[in-house]
Amino acid sequence: MKIQIINGPNLNLLGVREPSIYGDQSFEEYFKTLQQRYPEHTFSYFQSNKEGELIDKLHEVGFDHDGIVLNAGAYTHTSIAIADAIAAINTPVIEVHLSNVHKRETFRHHSMLAANCIGVIAGFGMDSYRLAVEHLIQR
Ligand code: DQA
Repeated sequence: MKIQIINGPNLNLLGVREPSIYGDQSFEEYFKTLQQRYPEHTFSYFQSNKEGELIDKLHEVGFDHDGIVLNAGAYTHTSIAIADAIAAINTPVIEVHLSNVHKRETFRHHSMLAANCIGVIAGFGMDSYRLAVEHLIQR
């Protein structure tokens, strides 16, 4: 399977950014362990702090990949444009979050994207990504 992982704003700082919430591992480091765990599948990783670049990546991979794991960061809570991009493509998207957004500030409780995704996984740290990948492989 071809699986694309997309991280949005500030997730380039994983490992450095608020480690008590997001942990002390960089995504690049975690991505290697994910690839090693599923050697029969092909993973690509993209990160951007820019909304339009996230939308461009969804358009680029959204017609030939088998699954997309998307952590849109704060855009999750605000972006109608990313929600529309998810609706426009054919590839199933799983929304993920490292933190349990429902335990945090109320502005994080609502997702603009969730209704256009096949499901949402939140609160398991980096393991949220693996759980999403596991589902894509099993479905
Ligand atoms: C996040 C949760 C968002 O509310 C926040 O803006 C992020 C990270 C998470 O992975 O827990 O940037 O998506």
